[in-house]
Amino acid sequence: MKLQTKLLLMKETVSKEEFQLHGELIELFSGENLEAAVGFTVQLLTLDDEGWPRIALLSVGEVLAVDDTTVRLALWPESRTTGNLIRSAQGVLAFVHHEVAYTVRIRTVRLPDLNDPLALAVFDGRVTEVRRDQVSYAVLQSGITFNLPDPPQVLTRWNATIKQLRRHAPAGSFAQTDPERDPGLERPVTSSPDNGQ
Ligand SMILES: Cc1cc2nc3c(=O)[nH]c(=O)nc-3n(C[C@H](O)[C@H](O)[C@H](O)COP(=O)(O)O)c2cc1C
Repeated sequence: MKLQTKLLLMKETVSKEEFQLHGELIELFSGENLEAAVGFTVQLLTLDDEGWPRIALLSVGEVLAVDDTTVRLALWPESRTTGNLIRSAQGVLAFVHHEVAYTVRIRTVRLPDLNDPLALAVFDGRVTEVRRDQVSYAVLQSGITFNLPDPPQVLTRWNATIKQLRRHAPAGSFAQTDPERDPGLERPVTSSPDNGQ
């Protein structure tokens, strides 16, 4: 085979852009069967006030697909990542799943904090783009992974967090507060009436 043909094949790509989460991703972030997804890591990229990208790592215990265009996140309230989302109201979720590198752009709105099982800042991210990156000559084996030294303790917390996220607010909270119209928008932070019930 000619070198030029080989190079062309190497460049062959099945990358593509979509505008909502497809079924496989909704299932991945369904909050069901969290035990099976221990180790799976989502990177959340935000921009700091000097324009530097900042990366936080999340697990399936803090990310919930509310519907095919909304991802709900629970973050450490004092983190710089939370500050970045409050300020810029946008971020990117990056992860590897089934041999595909995904980057999901989100526009965020802050919802009331959770205070059970932990104090966590909650954001709804409206999906504006889902990019699938996959090439035929190099097959992705994994993204970032981790082990849990104490799985039962963490799984109990994850399940409680997901339960709270699910009942926290209806999908489509963007209807009242569209960050594209008001990018710096931050809602007043009050305890959810559902917390702890
Ligand atoms: C394995 C792992 C899991 C993590 N899980 C979370 C998480 O669920 N939520 C969160 O806000 N930060 C999580 N972090 C911490 C973030 O990566 C980051 O340290 C945190 O946002 C504080 O950094 P920042 O102030 O730069 O945002 C995790 C870190 C690691 C290494």
